[in-house]
Amino acid sequence: MTDISRRSLAAGAGLLAGALAFGTRAQQMAPQMATAIPVPKITPKPLVINPDKVKGLSGDLLRSHHDGVYAEEVKKLNAIGEELSKLDLAQVTPQKLGDLKRDEQAAHNSTLLHEIYFDGLSEAPTQPSGLLAQALSRDFGSFDRWKAEFRLIGESLNAGSGWVILAYAPREKRLLNHRTENDSMAPAGSVPLLAMDMYEHAYAADYGTDTAKYIEAFVQAIKWTSAERLYREAMRV
Ligand SMILES: [Fe+2]
Repeated sequence: MTDISRRSLAAGAGLLAGALAFGTRAQQMAPQMATAIPVPKITPKPLVINPDKVKGLSGDLLRSHHDGVYAEEVKKLNAIGEELSKLDLAQVTPQKLGDLKRDEQAAHNSTLLHEIYFDGLSEAPTQPSGLLAQALSRDFGSFDRWKAEFRLIGESLNAGSGWVILAYAPREKRLLNHRTENDSMAPAGSVPLLAMDMYEHAYAADYGTDTAKYIEAFVQAIKWTSAERLYREAMRV
């Protein structure tokens, strides 16, 4: 075989290989645009307290909050995840995808913050201790000053929605109280340790519009051992 023939053969083989590779990529791309991807389902966490024994918050309120709001948010998050996994990305409009991602973020935050909220309530309230107590004093001046700021942030959320979140910020290596006006505003990077629900469904049945009384009841019912566990985990981030 001449050099020219060899070169022609090699070029032809290269083109064939390229065409095959393109065909393979195209075949791989097409199904990925439309094929459902397995999405883990979230299961609602049960209440670990007796809702009738939390001082300052009624059992009926806590049950309806847990079963009627939190559990429904979990269902919503699962449904959105399933819908997203089945989307044909070659067909869906950016607006439709954007709406789903907006709703997914809100449901993601809502479910996570509700779990921290319910885990943070106790039949027998505790006081902060150990490393978390030291960090509260270090980052807020004192535990009382932390409480005052936390309460006031809650009172600023008087429009029937939002969260007050005690969080650990790994970048600054410190605790912060965050204020969000809705489920979508959770801060980037921070690890929530304690969350106070300021949505109307969290207090109206017991306190009407008197958010100050609800906030006082919540602060008195905090199970600090839950926040301490989350703080220890957060410091390893
Ligand atoms: Fe809630």
